[in-house]
Amino acid sequence: MDMFFVEGGHPLHGSVRVDGSKNACLPIMAASLAINGEVVLQQVPQLRDIVTMRQLLQSIGATLDFRSDGAVQIDSRNVRSSVAPYELVRQMRAGVCVLGPLLTRFGHARVSLPGGCNIGHRPIDLHLRGLAALGADIRLEGGYIVAEARQLRGADVDLCGPHGPTVTGTCNVMMAAALAKGHTIIRSAAREPEVQDFAQFLNRAGARISGVGTSIVEIQGVEQLHNVCHTVIPDRIEAATLALAAAITRGNVMIHNAPTMDMTRVLNTLVEMGVTVDTTENTLHVRGSAPRFPRFLMAEPYPGLPTDCQAQFMALLSTVPGRSEITDRVFPERFMHAAELVRMGADIHIHGNTAMINGVTRLSAAPVMASDLRASAALVLAALAAEGRSEIRRVYHLDRGYHAFETKLNQLGAHIRRVNDECANGIPRPHSASRFAVAPTVDRPSIDGQTRFAAVDADPE
Ligand code: UD1
Repeated sequence: MDMFFVEGGHPLHGSVRVDGSKNACLPIMAASLAINGEVVLQQVPQLRDIVTMRQLLQSIGATLDFRSDGAVQIDSRNVRSSVAPYELVRQMRAGVCVLGPLLTRFGHARVSLPGGCNIGHRPIDLHLRGLAALGADIRLEGGYIVAEARQLRGADVDLCGPHGPTVTGTCNVMMAAALAKGHTIIRSAAREPEVQDFAQFLNRAGARISGVGTSIVEIQGVEQLHNVCHTVIPDRIEAATLALAAAITRGNVMIHNAPTMDMTRVLNTLVEMGVTVDTTENTLHVRGSAPRFPRFLMAEPYPGLPTDCQAQFMALLSTVPGRSEITDRVFPERFMHAAELVRMGADIHIHGNTAMINGVTRLSAAPVMASDLRASAALVLAALAAEGRSEIRRVYHLDRGYHAFETKLNQLGAHIRRVNDECANGIPRPHSASRFAVAPTVDRPSIDGQTRFAAVDADPE
């Protein structure tokens, strides 16, 4: 397994470019299964999750051609199977996005329940509720979702869950409704830019979806979708992570291809903390005045502060004098990184879904362990600011969502070295959990919304 050595204390300077959005790309790739033809996607990020989705689509029968210019051609004409196997779906929760496309294409689908995660309660009841409202018969059989529908029909569906709307659930139901007979209304639809991009992709392919970006989406079903070429939006979470890296090192970084219009809450929060931020439509200039003002933050569904930036903000707020708080309303237990930040000298206490943070003057280097994708990013940020050399283990989590992250940061002046931890110093060191740690549990996704915990390590998102 790879790990990072990070020598802290070097302010980041220079310019960097953001890749395409992972969370937009994954459901779009899955939706190509519903198109009996060719799809060309541009600005596809080179990430491990994309490779996993590629393997999943190939296992179902699609042909994918990854070009050197970052475009991907997907041909689903020879898709004959409607089964998404456990071995692939378990690796990535977004694997469940093939459910809607396979059901519309074949009238039946057999999709493994998705993999677990380390960020709390993650059922899929809303996906299934939405598809059932469109007329699908759904049952669970041997760890698989089995869905059948001779003809999906438009319906009025409310996708509100206990923690707000569902992003991939909205995509699954939107996909099925696009090829259902009649008119569908999705209430409490997710409004995330990635969902908007998904709808735009489907509309380009001939779907009739309106109200996108609001919480009420209307879909007039069409008979079929046609060949389409689509450019995936840039990754607002990567852009935000880079902006926070500039801020935490008190650097001066120009971030290109940043979807600044989709980042209002993140950017306003940075400005409120005392960071200097200048934007154009697609560039973001973050300048290195030290953030001075602690904040009380709330991670919420879009247009709120993204839960996928919560960990990175926790790292930054750990270095801002005074008392801050972060509450996560989307994933109330997403605090695995807090314990590791404490190992680096941060002062953080978790109470329910809120982290109380007392800013310290300096973080100090420590050996730490990444528990999930955004937690890994937060640890890298903290290590960039810390005094001394940190060791970050299990950076495979990071590779799921950031392409060449350490290369990009090193080009900005960071000192990060990737090594294989078996070779780094013999037997990997045992790792002790801090008293602040949330138990290392992972939920078993369930259709009834009940959490089932098991102490295993697994990837989030
Ligand atoms: C997507 C993103 C992930 C992000 C999350 C929230 C992708 C591939 N992943 O995940 O990076 O952190 O949105 O912005 O796009 N819920 C239910 N029932 C369901 C589905 C969800 O109760 O059927 C709950 C979840 O437990 C969570 C909340 O709703 O508390 C939001 O989850 P959801 O939006 O579905 O997350 P994902 O789509 O899996």
